[in-house]
Amino acid sequence: MVIKVQKGTKDILPSEVSTWQYMEEKAREVFGLSNYKEIRTPIFESTELFARGVGDSTDIVNKEMYTFEKSGRSLTLRPENTASVVRSYIENGFSRLSVPVKLWYKGPMFRYERPQAGRQRQFHQIGVECFGVKEPACDAEVISLAINYLKALGLNDLTVEINSLGCNSCRLEYRNKIKNILNPYLSRLCSDCNIRYEKNPLRILDCKVDSCIEIMENKEIRNIIEESFICNECLDHFEKLKKYLDVLDIKYTVNRKLVRGLDYYNRTVFEIKSNNLGSQNAVCGGGRYDSLVETLNGPSTAAVGFAMGLERLYYLIEKREDKKLDFYIISGNTIEALRFVNEIRNKGFSADFDYTCKKFTKQLEKASKVSRYALILEEDEIKNNTITIKNLASGDQKTILQDKFLNNISSILEE
Ligand code: HAM
Repeated sequence: MVIKVQKGTKDILPSEVSTWQYMEEKAREVFGLSNYKEIRTPIFESTELFARGVGDSTDIVNKEMYTFEKSGRSLTLRPENTASVVRSYIENGFSRLSVPVKLWYKGPMFRYERPQAGRQRQFHQIGVECFGVKEPACDAEVISLAINYLKALGLNDLTVEINSLGCNSCRLEYRNKIKNILNPYLSRLCSDCNIRYEKNPLRILDCKVDSCIEIMENKEIRNIIEESFICNECLDHFEKLKKYLDVLDIKYTVNRKLVRGLDYYNRTVFEIKSNNLGSQNAVCGGGRYDSLVETLNGPSTAAVGFAMGLERLYYLIEKREDKKLDFYIISGNTIEALRFVNEIRNKGFSADFDYTCKKFTKQLEKASKVSRYALILEEDEIKNNTITIKNLASGDQKTILQDKFLNNISSILEE
């Protein structure tokens, strides 16, 4: 039986890789301009990191983790990277560095979800985490960084949604209010929301199950959702954030139902959605998580960040063409072709040749497909130490000494 790729996973093929590299290079460029440094953390971590970090009331921890045992230890393929970056921040004593500590990352994440367009079991994220600043200017800067990156990729048709989840104390009161108002509807809420009702009732606001959405449309419930519950300090933070976003000319809408699927957030949460994707339309999600470093036994440290799904960005952006080779050698003499291709590569230019000495026309056909120039190295050229250079776009060709060619490759490519 032929072994196939696993459901919810995909090969990124050579024809697609240029676009992936482009997304990664743009991230390095744009995040670098704001002084973010790249960090690479392991793909698996202790299960406890995510159970404590992401939160045991979340779907991610309850249903979606790839967990396995090795040497009596429970390990998990990372479902997201914020908890891992926080673990590394604590372990490497980054709190001793001057603030802010700005980190960015890219890499695969793993969630056992039902695959559909824009939702995979192995997917890739690019994200940033900024540690040490509690002021809302930092939230605004992080949101604008996400937008700058998306703009650099040529994406403009986006909607920014923001909300404030308040702090532990003001949220507690709101939680109780939500519980009271939803209590009569418990039997009509989906089974997940019945669990959420006990563990994290705010998540019910965001449930995508039709029957729950319908209940949330109830006027009385809608009024409570729309009402601002946050304390004065949280309100001040949110109002300043909105002002900074206005200053930065970032259009946004306040979505009171935006609660996000991870437990670590407080105050600001945000999502950036594309109008050109189906139901999985969030290209970016993030927010503030001022208690996570402490929850994971580090020093009290304010933090804010986001992550974007690269599969969703890949779908939206203009695709990059695979770069052509500089040269393709056409020759009936394997030894000479092998020698010459090696000299070109050693000078830092890309080149390839045919290993089987196919007919001249076949080799030329191949050269036209994969490269900018054909280098003809047949009997005459070998005898005279020359090479015939054929520009495959214009058809122009000339014969020069091999030494002259090898010493002037850059200028030949510029012609
Ligand atoms: P998240 O909302 O779970 O947040 O994921 C961020 C983004 O990853 C989503 O907006 C989406 O584009 C992409 N994504 C998530 N799951 C999938 C999937 N199954 N298939 C394809 N793409 C997916 C986090 O992960 C937080 N760690 C973000 C963060 C960083 N908050 C603060 N710092």
